[in-house]
Amino acid sequence: MIDKIKELIAEAESFKAQSKEEVEAFRIKYLGKKGLLNDYFAEFKNVANEQKKEFGQVINQLKNTAQNKVNTLKEELENTSTDSLGNLDLSRPGEPITLGARHPISIVKNDIIDIFSRIGFNVSEGPEIEDDWHNFTALNLPEYHPARDMQDTFFIQTNPDILLRTHTSSVQVRYMENNQPPIRTISPGRVYRNEAISARSHCFFHQLEGLYIDKDVSFADLKQTLQYFTTELFGKAKIRLRPSYFPFTEPSAEVDVYWGLETETDYKITKGTGWLEIGGCGMVDPNVLTNCGIDANEYSGFAFGVGIDRIAMLLHQISDIRLLSENDIRFLDQFKSAL
Ligand code: DAH
Repeated sequence: MIDKIKELIAEAESFKAQSKEEVEAFRIKYLGKKGLLNDYFAEFKNVANEQKKEFGQVINQLKNTAQNKVNTLKEELENTSTDSLGNLDLSRPGEPITLGARHPISIVKNDIIDIFSRIGFNVSEGPEIEDDWHNFTALNLPEYHPARDMQDTFFIQTNPDILLRTHTSSVQVRYMENNQPPIRTISPGRVYRNEAISARSHCFFHQLEGLYIDKDVSFADLKQTLQYFTTELFGKAKIRLRPSYFPFTEPSAEVDVYWGLETETDYKITKGTGWLEIGGCGMVDPNVLTNCGIDANEYSGFAFGVGIDRIAMLLHQISDIRLLSENDIRFLDQFKSAL
């Protein structure tokens, strides 16, 4: 009898199945209520005492082998779909492929690039991790200038020379160091400032810098360029340049667009004035040209910087700047049609 059981063990070990039904038949044959194992267990009491030990071992071995076989075969059949083509439901609806949307910052950035490329501006970029020279010194920001205050600037590690750029004006410097006039370039990018995060301000945001250097460039050229830009982007023609101060431009101005006072929202976003500030501008200070290796006696130029987040919020009625960096799909999905 023991030999017979050993044969059954070998048989169980080499058993193969193509379907769940075959596995079930195998299970019933060995492990079922009226299966072989129960028969042998019932036989146990009739076995001679000196053989009981060996008999017990082999039937246990048979039981384990059969049980393991059933488990592994079941698992294999679950994993490999054995559904033949006959079971394939060709009328089942497909998995929906969800389309992504461009981020509102990218949409606005691309729109602005389009507008300026039509009047001969190229696109340039610079690093977000900058050194003191490109972010401050070359831009006529002397060492004691308040804008260099630790409160505004994120420094990298303990090296006061390496920082996260606080504006894209640093790209102006890099561009002038590497290119001679005529220069017409715009530089979009992310900037960082150590500011409290709220609905209106963030510790990182996006700017777009413009730079135009050539012979005989005047303030009238600056104004006309900004006029063209705002008309194309906002569809609003009226702008105003308010005298201001930036260390890297002289004279300097703040750029306002006349937004209007037609709706309640217009009142809110313009604080009842109808005017909206979108950035700063001015004639590049001759010191900056000299710092960057451009002959200030021969050339002059203008520069401007606008906030991309601000413009995206205006154009798409986004009320909280934090939405722009949270990557909430419910928010981003809304820009599918704005591609
Ligand atoms: N860099 C300035 C800022 O971050 C913006 C700016 C003002 C850029 C005037 C310019 C400029 O190029 O001419 O606030």
